[in-house]
Amino acid sequence: MKKPPFLIVAIDGGAAAGKSSTAHALSTRFNFLHADTGSYYRALTAELLHRGVKAKDAESVRAELADLKFDTQIVARDARMKIHGDRISETDIRSEVVNNAVSHFAALPDLRAALLAYQRNLAEVARAHHFGGLVMEGRDIGTVIFPNADFRVFLHADPHERVRRREREGHVDAVAERDRLDSSRAAAPLTCPAGAVAIDSTHLPLNEVVERIARLITARLLGP
Ligand code: DC
Repeated sequence: MKKPPFLIVAIDGGAAAGKSSTAHALSTRFNFLHADTGSYYRALTAELLHRGVKAKDAESVRAELADLKFDTQIVARDARMKIHGDRISETDIRSEVVNNAVSHFAALPDLRAALLAYQRNLAEVARAHHFGGLVMEGRDIGTVIFPNADFRVFLHADPHERVRRREREGHVDAVAERDRLDSSRAAAPLTCPAGAVAIDSTHLPLNEVVERIARLITARLLGP
């Protein structure tokens, strides 16, 4: 039997648009490695804040970045970032201080450049660990990181619904303000990638969002 193709699925969208739940469900269903790139921007933000660096001080950010070593720990199907061999806790990366600072750090071209090769290399990590593909979520995955991904998906949802989702998760997060910063920055702004399947998840249950994408993946895996 022919070996199924290794597939890359890029999922982009604003804060709390449903990316993580969708990416997680697809990773489980198809045995794809799951990369939540927002968690990488959050981990770097937490580390830089811990080192006393501010996003306003681009020089210090550059100097500290040159000193940081990242690698990956795979937990089930999740690619988690380690900095100097340690993982920064979920509580720290989802804290209110990080929520408020992360978009400012993410707007810095040096910080994005530091993550570019790391993120692209996760496709090799996924192959090396015999995953069937990679599902990567973020803001610039289908536009910058993997513009030739097999599938590009853009998720969006009404801002009020997205605030409610974050509150239900127990987080305080100014999602509209983060989207404004993420969409208006000069470096790799959040935008719908060319040729993406755009899905509005405001009134769509998660399983329906997942089904729509899963149907496309299944059709590709089954071949012509
Ligand atoms: O997905 P998230 O809300 O956890 O992402 C946190 C922040 O990281 C988001 O406000 C913008 C930034 N980010 C980015 O600029 N590019 C990505 N590919 C992923 C996240």
